[in-house]
Amino acid sequence: ASKQPVSLPSEPFLVIAHRGASAYAPAHTFPSYELAIDMGAHYIELDLQRTKDGKLIVLHNDSIELNGNEMEIEEITSDTLGAFKPAEEFNQPSNQFASQRFASLRVPSLEQVLREFGDQTNYYIEIKSPERYPGIEQQLIDQLDGHHLLNREDPLPKVIIQSFSSDSLKKVHELSPSTPLIQLYSFKEKADLPTSKLKRVTRYASGIGVNSMAVTEHLVKTVHQSGLAIHPFTVNDPEHAAALISMGVDGVFTDKPDLILHLLSQEY
Ligand code: G3P
Ligand code: CA
Repeated sequence: ASKQPVSLPSEPFLVIAHRGASAYAPAHTFPSYELAIDMGAHYIELDLQRTKDGKLIVLHNDSIELNGNEMEIEEITSDTLGAFKPAEEFNQPSNQFASQRFASLRVPSLEQVLREFGDQTNYYIEIKSPERYPGIEQQLIDQLDGHHLLNREDPLPKVIIQSFSSDSLKKVHELSPSTPLIQLYSFKEKADLPTSKLKRVTRYASGIGVNSMAVTEHLVKTVHQSGLAIHPFTVNDPEHAAALISMGVDGVFTDKPDLILHLLSQEY
């Protein structure tokens, strides 16, 4: 029988820096992660993709536009990816946080991020398109293990792994039962997650992540009664964050960790 998933601590309220402090610096880049860590976010969030030469890289989309061509990440090498400038979208004249100092940034590999930040932060890692990347679960666990980030006794787990794919999470649970996992869901309107479904999730995961507009007090209650945590995404408005906090959620994904931390320090 599979080992029971670990429970996430109920405190503190988790501030998860979505793609880093990505409101202020280009998503999934070193400045974005550095800023999030400096602000005091509990986790930096990473989305994973894999290049043709088998490197895990940190990028939201599974394709990029390069020299006018749309290219799938799984079909290009890390060398080719080296020509892509992730700041171009961020550095629009209308963006008050645009800066020339971002222009030379490149997409980091997971290895570079882990080497740079080591155990000075915690990692909330999304397996983005597991169907495109066979074996990504083992590869990720091996890489995290190589950095001694798994099976530790820290107050907050160093690593949380999230995915919309339950198949991928179940594989991770078999490979690393002590790593807390988050099952992601996205709903058009209000979330529909009956207790029977949540009960199945408790076999492999420690919590769920749901788009914030779908969250209701009833959902939070049902999720907690099932013994799971709930982390809504992506919350950048303090009033909305306050409403979610009153509903009892356990943390939020945010592009603006400073705003959420400020709110927590003021009122809660
Ligand atoms: O991982 C939670 C949330 O980030 C999922 O949406 O598209 O921002 O990765 P996305
Ligand atoms: Ca994500």
